[in-house]
Amino acid sequence: MTASYKLGNPGNPGSPGKKPLQSRFPRLWLAAQYLLAGFFYRGRAIVKHLGTRRRVLEVGCSVGIDSVHFSKRPCDYLGVDIDADAIAMASARYKDKAHMRFRHVDMRTLSPAENTFDFILFCGSVHHIPDADAVSILNHATTLLADDGIMVVIDYALHDQPGWMERFILALEEGRHVRDQQAFLAILAQVRDCEITEQEIFVNPAFLLPWPVMAHKFCIVMRKRQTVAG
Ligand SMILES: C[S@@+](CC[C@H](N)C(=O)[O-])C[C@H]1O[C@@H](n2cnc3c(N)ncnc32)[C@H](O)[C@@H]1O
Repeated sequence: MTASYKLGNPGNPGSPGKKPLQSRFPRLWLAAQYLLAGFFYRGRAIVKHLGTRRRVLEVGCSVGIDSVHFSKRPCDYLGVDIDADAIAMASARYKDKAHMRFRHVDMRTLSPAENTFDFILFCGSVHHIPDADAVSILNHATTLLADDGIMVVIDYALHDQPGWMERFILALEEGRHVRDQQAFLAILAQVRDCEITEQEIFVNPAFLLPWPVMAHKFCIVMRKRQTVAG
C-alpha cells in the first residue's frame, strides 16, 4: 500500500503561534469527531482491547473525546496533551470523575516514576507527529508500560484509492503526517522491546451510516517482547 496526499490545512496542534481547531472551536471539533471522525468505530476497538486492564494512559487526549470510553469503566485514567486549552476543557468535562486525571505535559517528559500503565492509547495522535519524534515518543511510552501491558495505536491508514469523502476529510486534517501502512509500520518497527501482536485496518463511515467512507484506520496492538529465561 503506497499513497501520499498534499494535506490541505497547514495548522498543527502544538505548533507555535497558532491554536489548533480543537481549542479554537471545541464544540465544532467534538461534533465533527462524533459525526465524521469515527468516534464509535474507534471506541469499539478501544473497548475491545481494554478488556479488564485498569491503569490507562491516553497520549494526546485532546478535549477528552475518547476519554469517555473510560469514564464509566473501573480504571485509573490519565490523559496527557501538549495543548493546555484542550486539557483544561477535558478536565472540566470530567471533573466529577474521581478516577480520571488530565495533565498538560509533553509525553516525552512524563516520568516513568509516575506510574506504569497496562493500557497506553495513542488514538489519532501519531499523525500529528513527525517520524523521528513519533519514534522517540513511542519508545518513551514503552518505559511506562507494565510488562504485561499493551500499547494500542489507532490512526489514519492512507491508501491509494480513497473516495471523495476520504479526500475531503484529509484536506481538512490538521495533522501533517498521515501515513500509509508501509510508513506506519516502519515507525512501529523502531519501537524498542515491543512487537506488534495484532493489527487491522477498519473502515470509518459517517455517524451510524454505512456510507460514505470517511477514512480507513489502523488499529495496532503492541506488547513487550518476552525474554526467555535461561
Ligand atoms: C487530534 S488529537 C487526537 C484526539 C483524539 N484522540 C482523536 O482521535 O481525535 C492529537 C493530539 O495529540 C497531541 N499531541 C501531539 N504531540 C504530543 C506530545 N508530544 N505529547 C502529548 N500530546 C501530544 C496534540 O496536542 C493533539 O491534541
